[in-house]
Parts: sequence; structure tokens; C-alpha cells
Amino acid sequence: ARQLVQVCSKGEKVLRGVDMSHVAILESKESEGDTLSGISVVVDRDGKIADIGNDEEIIFKYKNEVFDTQVDASGMCILPGFIDAHTHPVWDGDRVHEFAMKLAGATYMEVHAAGGGIHYTVDHTQEASEEKLLMLFIQRLHCMLQAGTTLIEAKSGYGLDAENEIKLLRVIERAKFVQPIEISSTYCGAHAVPKGMTSQQATDDIISDQLPRIKDLMNKGSLCVDNIDVFCEKGVFEVEESKKILQAGQLLGLRVNFHAEELHCIHGAEMGAKLGAEAISHLEEICEAGIQAMAKAGTIAVILPTTQYILRLRPPPVRQMIEAGIPIALGTDFNPNAYCLSMPLTMHLACVNFRMSMPEALVASTINAAAALGKSLTHGSIEIGKFADMVVIEAPRWEHIVYQLGGHDQLIKVVIKHGNVV
Ligand code: NIG
Ligand code: FE
Repeated sequence: ARQLVQVCSKGEKVLRGVDMSHVAILESKESEGDTLSGISVVVDRDGKIADIGNDEEIIFKYKNEVFDTQVDASGMCILPGFIDAHTHPVWDGDRVHEFAMKLAGATYMEVHAAGGGIHYTVDHTQEASEEKLLMLFIQRLHCMLQAGTTLIEAKSGYGLDAENEIKLLRVIERAKFVQPIEISSTYCGAHAVPKGMTSQQATDDIISDQLPRIKDLMNKGSLCVDNIDVFCEKGVFEVEESKKILQAGQLLGLRVNFHAEELHCIHGAEMGAKLGAEAISHLEEICEAGIQAMAKAGTIAVILPTTQYILRLRPPPVRQMIEAGIPIALGTDFNPNAYCLSMPLTMHLACVNFRMSMPEALVASTINAAAALGKSLTHGSIEIGKFADMVVIEAPRWEHIVYQLGGHDQLIKVVIKHGNVV
């Protein structure tokens, strides 16, 4: 009866605002408002949710079935698996040394302009073998899984030439088959302008060399890339260059999902909305016109609380965006600047620093994050027919996952991916 899901123009399910009855949080306590209690979930062998119902009902209905696995979640809460809508997880060369510089007052762009920042990581990533990068990536995925993440978006972007960008995309591809987390793959060759090149030259290289080679590998079936990304920023890729790159990707069938308005308002949000971008990330500096354009286009805002926190940026105007009707998703932005693999911590920061409510943060980390990746019809909520991706926490109220600043490892008892306890 409570059909509160809005279907936006792209056919994605998103929840605008706070109502999250559709996320179906299953709690141990007496049902009140958003949550249900005394509920069992039945998963089919295909990893999808076959049934949801009262404990007694389910026990009676399936009394002749023998379940392969049974998870006793009594006294616990079941949440949808967390979806991390924005990560840079394939690299070598951390930047712990730059953390001190930033604490001492150096800005992100000062470090970058001095040849550090992304460039430092690019140098080390270019040097690293595919095997080493895969090993590092798998370790990171393991940490994410422990924090309840079951689906991520993963970007390339520390290769910056065709050979190295393809190396990173191949690492992402291989990781899909050797561990449980599902991955939406993003080509982010325009993450920085390579040393010794102008942004114009880099744009040309991406459009005329990198993208065609990637497309060729996609056609051959050896790579599966879903999205295209650009770091659209003053002094990196300006709006016109970003637009060219994104359009070239769009022509190849990639979904547009890019960085904009992080440090300066250069109206990348309006450009993205015009292109029909599926998602735009950061948006700390977005203006009112940008908000209106994104709302009209149905573009999802991917908000990254860790980066705003570490770089002490201005908080993005999340409340205005929600009021304007923009669906909000959250991501860890895991990268060598913002070293965070945890969606629970990300939700906590979003609530404290951006004044999101806990239900809003959960929606942004589940069904709306799924929508940002074009997967909200199959992922992001506990619903019959969807993949059984769930997190079981040992707490009487689901809000513990947001309330706690740490200790999530103890809180999270079971992570279920495609119906398997992982
Ligand atoms: O989303 N701003 C651009 N990209 C990343 C940072 C990458 C890095 O610093 O290595 C981000 O914050
Ligand atoms: Fe990012």
C-alpha cells in the first residue's frame, strides 16, 4: 500500500527526500514507521530475493524446503548492502607525506600544481605491475566488504595514457571475478593533465587514442566499461574540454558520471545536466542555476563527505539540493587523498557535516547509489526479485550503523552478497 517510490525519467528508482519505506529495513524491535520486524527473507539459488514475510508465515510456507544456509538474525537489523557510488581504488603510491602538508595549510591544488597529488600517484601506478595493482585492489575490496559494501563504482585515472589506463581497467575487470563485491567500471582518463601536456593535448589524446582503444577492447569482450568520468575543474579540464570528452564517451555508449564544482563553480553542473549526465560528483561549489539544471535533468548528485572533510572544503548545499528534488547518493571517494573505505563512516560525516538525516544517508548509500550506477531496478533495497545483498548488524536499532564513528567491524555480523554469506 505504501508505494512511495518515484520513477524518474531514466527509469531508475530513486527516493527523493527522507521516506525510505522502500528500502525495507528489517529491525528486531516492534515495527514503527520505516521499519519492519519479525520478518524473514528467502533467497533463491540465483541469488535473488524470492520471498519476504512474517517469520511464522515463511516457516509455514517453506516447511518442506531444506535451506542451504540459514542466518539467525534475531535481535539484529537487516539493511540493504551498502553501495559506494564513487571510488578511485586502483593505484599504488599513497600520499601519507602530503597529509602533513595539507594539515599545515597547503591546498589540494597547491600540492597538485607542485607535481604532487594525483601526479605522485600516477608515477607510482605507471611503474606498478598489473598483478601488484590487482593485489592492492583486492585488499581494499576486502576492507570495503567488511564495512558492508556489496557494490561499488570504481574508476581508472592514475594511468593517464592509453596503455596504463587500459592496465587499470583490466585490473578492475579481473577483480570482478575473484571476490564478491560487484563493480561498475568507470574510465577516468581525464583525471589530471599528464605532465608535459596541455589540457587540449590531453583531451585530444583521450578522444583520438585512449577511447577508441578502450572501445575496441569492449567490442572484443575483454573489457566491460560502464561509465565515463572527467575531473572538470578550473586549471584541470575546463567545461568545454570536459564536455568534449564526455560526449565522446557518450557516443560509445558510456554513462556520464563525472567530477564537477569541487573547488570552483565553473558551471560544470549545468553542462552535465545538458548532456543528460546520469550523475555528477562533489558539487561543493554548485550554484543555484546548477542545482535547478540538475533537478530538471534528473541527474543524481553523488556527495563525497570524506573529501570535503579532509580538504576542509565548503560543505555542498545538500539541503538545497534535496529541496530542489535532486536525488542524493553517497560515496567514500576512496583515493590517496581521502583514504576511507567505509560507507558507515561516510554516512556519519554526511549527517553531521551536511545535515542529512540518518534515513536520507541510508537511502543515499543504497537505492540512490544504485540509481547513480543504473542499477536501482536490481540492487539497493530488500525487495522480491532483487539481488539478495544485505548487511546484518548486531544492534536493536539500525541507526547504530550511522551513529557510531567506528567499531563497525563488531557491529556488522554478516554480509550477504547474491544470497551468499561472504
Ligand atoms: O575525487 N578531485 C579529483 N579526484 C579525486 C582525488 C584524486 C586524488 O587526489 O588522487 C577526488 O577527490
Ligand atoms: Fe573522486
